[in-house]
Amino acid sequence: MSTSLAELLHEQLRDLFDAQEQYRGLLPCMVENCTHTDLALRLREIQETTAQNRQDLLDVCQLLKINPDGVTCEAMQGLIRETCRSATGIDDSATMDAALIANAQRIAHYEIAGFGTASAFARCISAHEAAAALAQITERAANIDQRLTRIAQGGWFTPGINHEAAIAA
Ligand SMILES: [Fe+2]
Repeated sequence: MSTSLAELLHEQLRDLFDAQEQYRGLLPCMVENCTHTDLALRLREIQETTAQNRQDLLDVCQLLKINPDGVTCEAMQGLIRETCRSATGIDDSATMDAALIANAQRIAHYEIAGFGTASAFARCISAHEAAAALAQITERAANIDQRLTRIAQGGWFTPGINHEAAIAA
């Protein structure tokens, strides 16, 4: 059996579509557990971004004439399991916020790898419109990752959530 790069891309897009759907299901729970105002804003932005990503992925699937359904992203299932497990037993709110950021960044990195690779595959098979849309989703995930790092680590004049969690311990 041989699989072409186009088929591999289609499979990966289905996987990424399911990953986005799973993440959309998890985010309301993450927002609910969050206490930090800026982090809550960022998590709501992520919710809006995943809705936009979903639509863009559907457009890409339509362009490439593939059905986005039918694949389960087991990696995202694992990331969600870990997110739930790491939140268990945390009483301190800053530590909970730090855990939420850690998990959101793991997911952002998974998205950057997945969408970045899908964009590169699409470019190689001359699906340029799809490649551009997938590059845009990759960029959104990278922006989210950078914003989360800023909230976790703080800046010159603002302590980050990690620092707040450290002094609460
Ligand atoms: Fe996956």
